[in-house]
Amino acid sequence: MRAVMVANPKGGAGKTTLATNLSGYFANQGKKTTLCDLDRQQSALRWMAFREPALPPVTGYFAGNQIVLNLPKEADWVVVDAPAGLQGYKLTDYLRVVDKVVVPLVPSVFDMAATEDFLNSIRSEMRGSRGKVGIVAMRVDPRTKAAGMLEEFLKHFDIPIVAYLRNTQNYVNVAAGGQTVFDPPRAKHRRDVEQWAPLLEWLGG
Ligand SMILES: Nc1ncnc2c1ncn2[C@@H]1O[C@H](COP(=O)(O)OP(=O)(O)O)[C@@H](O)[C@H]1O
Ligand SMILES: [Mg+2]
Repeated sequence: MRAVMVANPKGGAGKTTLATNLSGYFANQGKKTTLCDLDRQQSALRWMAFREPALPPVTGYFAGNQIVLNLPKEADWVVVDAPAGLQGYKLTDYLRVVDKVVVPLVPSVFDMAATEDFLNSIRSEMRGSRGKVGIVAMRVDPRTKAAGMLEEFLKHFDIPIVAYLRNTQNYVNVAAGGQTVFDPPRAKHRRDVEQWAPLLEWLGG
């Protein structure tokens, strides 16, 4: 079993979008995939409930009430959708039990300010395990001013940007049907699927 946690203290950063699409990717690869929803709003589980049985299956459960994170060993991949405001001892515990941490980050001054303390705690917790944390630049095209601003901000943290995902209603539309950009017809989202490649390679999936 391998586990990836999607985390950012800011609501609306794109955690559930990343967590559901990652789950859809693994499921379409034929992997036994489980979504662990830690957010009490349970958006990831709501997405799962919309998912048609004919699609590659994703199972899931709510774990926001667990003191210590207990992940299902029988899954190939567990994707953890972390709650907004995750910090302190819980963050420490969660970082310990997952293989990778993906932090979606929108290049706005508000989002970057709200994420700064979180990135600082992650960096100090993660001493000695470089390569475990990666940023996904969310709703941005590389080579824009916004991307440059994000790269400048991240220089302080020594955490790499592992993908850039553009701003598109595709994510909103697929989510409404319990789907992901990786579900058929995949060609419809070819440009988006391509943007995930460096993240998926970094995860080693
Ligand atoms: N790349 C994107 N392009 C357009 N809309 C996006 C993108 N990523 C996320 N969204 C939308 O932004 C909103 C917040 O994203 P969500 O994944 O729910 O964030 P979080 O789980 O961090 O609160 C949702 O309505 C989602 O559909
Ligand atoms: Mg969410």
